[in-house]
Amino acid sequence: MARLIGGLGTSHIPAIGGAIHKGLQQEPYWKPFFDGFPPARRWLDKVKPDVVVIFYNDHGLNFFLDKMPTFAVGAAAEYRNADEGWGIPTLPPFRGDQDLSWHLIESLIDRSFDVTTCQEMMIDHACTLPLKLFWPIGDCPVAIVPVCINTVQFPLPAAARVYALGRAAGEAINSWDSDKRVAVIASGGLSHQLDGERAGFINKEFDTEFLASLVSNPEWATQFSIHELVEKTGTQGIELLMWLAMRASLTAASPTVRMLHSNYYIPISNTATALMVLEAA
Ligand code: DHB
Ligand code: FE
Repeated sequence: MARLIGGLGTSHIPAIGGAIHKGLQQEPYWKPFFDGFPPARRWLDKVKPDVVVIFYNDHGLNFFLDKMPTFAVGAAAEYRNADEGWGIPTLPPFRGDQDLSWHLIESLIDRSFDVTTCQEMMIDHACTLPLKLFWPIGDCPVAIVPVCINTVQFPLPAAARVYALGRAAGEAINSWDSDKRVAVIASGGLSHQLDGERAGFINKEFDTEFLASLVSNPEWATQFSIHELVEKTGTQGIELLMWLAMRASLTAASPTVRMLHSNYYIPISNTATALMVLEAA
């Protein structure tokens, strides 16, 4: 059977792509953010996953407001990104793992998660940036299975539902008939709000409590409704749902996790950025 080795979480911001492109990693503005990544890369270099399942939210590249699935799973042989109008360089296509995609889709639907299956799927900055941050050099060495969770158009799935989805995804990975090593990635958050009266809103206190809960009390955030989470983290801070799915999937691998590394830095653009590496114990 496949092995679920651990999970990583990171924020995604289009400007990160521009900073990578322009080689600004050591500039004072960017350094505290990029300096978080070498320990995560060293861990990945050691554990060498073959495939990653990425929980992320599309921002209008693949799904627009006219058709918005709550949960969508990629089942493509390759995934392309595109210019989103923010000056992020377009990257070469990312390789899919269709065998894991279909196993995941069948397992999730079998457990009453009626996911949208995507045999073609464009991936935006939320999917590509974590891959570029974790594997900065050359082509991405891992195959991917993107899992898109709607956090852009209401109604959004409840935190408890996202947790259950993550858990079911973890169980599916564990039961995949393969000798491959799988890691899970969460892309999004933490607190940020890009528009409206509270534009620029950040809540360090809540973020800190949320990050701590992921280590030892992973269901903690499921006590909050979507509106409470938006109130506490901002309209885009709700992307923390990805972290919940990632952490929930690890419960299928082991009862506890080891937190190997974390970083938290405010702000990059309008966002409180976070990074975490969790190993299945
Ligand atoms: C920003 C953050 C995001 O999560 C995003 O998708 C786009 C922009 C920002 O802070 O600029
Ligand atoms: Fe985002």
